[in-house]
Amino acid sequence: MKEKDPTIQCSFCKRRVVVHSQYDLPVYDPRSGFALCARCVTDIYKAIEAHQVEVNKEADAETMSNLDEEMSRIKPHLIKEYLDKYIINQDQAKKILSVAVYNHYKRMKYGFDHKEDELDEIEKSNVIILGPSGCGKTALLSHLAKMLDIPFAVTDSSSLTEAGFVGSDVEVAVRNLYYAADKNITRCEHGIIYLDEFDKIARKSGENNTITADPGHEGVQQSLLKMLEGSEVEFTARGQRKHPEAPTIKVNTKNILFIVGGAFVGIEKIIAKRLKATDTGIGFGAKIEGQNEKPKYNDLIHKTRPEDLMKFGIIPEIIGRLPVICTLEDLDENALLRILTEPRNAPVRQYKKLMEMDNVDLEFSDDALHAVAQKAIERKTGARSLKGIIEDVMLDIMFDIPKSDKHRKVTITADCINNHATPIIEDLE
Ligand SMILES: Nc1ncnc2c1ncn2[C@@H]1O[C@H](COP(=O)(O)OP(=O)(O)OP(=O)(O)O)[C@@H](O)[C@H]1O
Ligand SMILES: [Mg+2]
Repeated sequence: MKEKDPTIQCSFCKRRVVVHSQYDLPVYDPRSGFALCARCVTDIYKAIEAHQVEVNKEADAETMSNLDEEMSRIKPHLIKEYLDKYIINQDQAKKILSVAVYNHYKRMKYGFDHKEDELDEIEKSNVIILGPSGCGKTALLSHLAKMLDIPFAVTDSSSLTEAGFVGSDVEVAVRNLYYAADKNITRCEHGIIYLDEFDKIARKSGENNTITADPGHEGVQQSLLKMLEGSEVEFTARGQRKHPEAPTIKVNTKNILFIVGGAFVGIEKIIAKRLKATDTGIGFGAKIEGQNEKPKYNDLIHKTRPEDLMKFGIIPEIIGRLPVICTLEDLDENALLRILTEPRNAPVRQYKKLMEMDNVDLEFSDDALHAVAQKAIERKTGARSLKGIIEDVMLDIMFDIPKSDKHRKVTITADCINNHATPIIEDLE
């Protein structure tokens, strides 16, 4: 009787292999007989790795060659100049962000031509942004993103959940950046991640809240810790379900700049309480005129300190990894008036353009603009409601005007804003 051959042939190198364990023949399909021996698998793996190193080197060289040119374009004062075109006030925040971004580029440059025996590394300075609702946090960051040539991804923190819970894991933030970088790992590893609505993952047991335990939100913060500092983050491609065999993409977050932001509603009360407790007579309290006058939001917010964030419900380890605190102010009537007309995408300009397309000159009387600003202040949503207030009075006009092609002038008055009066329409032909 013929003895059974104890070896199996590798389909690639044609060698016959004695199989003691699955590692001798890592790939084997008994039905078709297709097999790959350990040696071939190792060779293929090495070839792939070597190729990856080449690809990365090319990507590094390309990024590096653009870097000098880019750095002359994004000097802090130039970034601020650009932001000034869109965002009114918030000068301090614009300055802080401009410097943070410029330093991010410097770190990147230093990392690329890092020489031995010099300084080990320049540590990154992640930023935390706070300020009232509708004051321009998200808008500021989205304009910044448009200006920069490095990948920039915004992720809503309130959608993040602790691993194992329904929702998105924190890795999603890195995955978003990976796609913003057109799947280029080198570019991704030097990008900027903005975590919006960061206050929504505050621990509910913070002083500002009444619920005593909140493992979910604290868990999200814990999972963010390593990522903020720098770690290898693994995620699956978009649309791919997460299961143990799914191929993963690895990104190191060491050089990614993190900016987190949120309204942190009520933090001014925490700051006021702290200042009151530490007031020695020459401190904050002494500056307030009148005995019962409450300190204003804008006076308080710029005094935010790490311990206030901790009281709000951000864990100390996270705060330690966000060394730059950037605060935005509440917008007063004057600022709102400017927002209505000045920025390149100001609401009044937008409606003027829309009307122009129907051969109509649209005018807002000064009173009308004041009325809009005052209404927005009443709604307490910062600049957010400006557009909606105008939209309300513009609806009928936008419906009726296209009925004719005549050249006309439409004037919106304070009466239109406050009492729904009909705008004045004049024929100009
Ligand atoms: N300082 C500003 N200058 C110009 N426009 C502004 C400013 N602040 C807000 N806006 C406008 O108001 C709208 C809402 O602002 P934004 O989304 O930035 O608010 P936010 O600070 O992120 O608020 P929230 O905390 O509620 O998310 C934006 O469309 C923006 O155009
Ligand atoms: Mg926002």
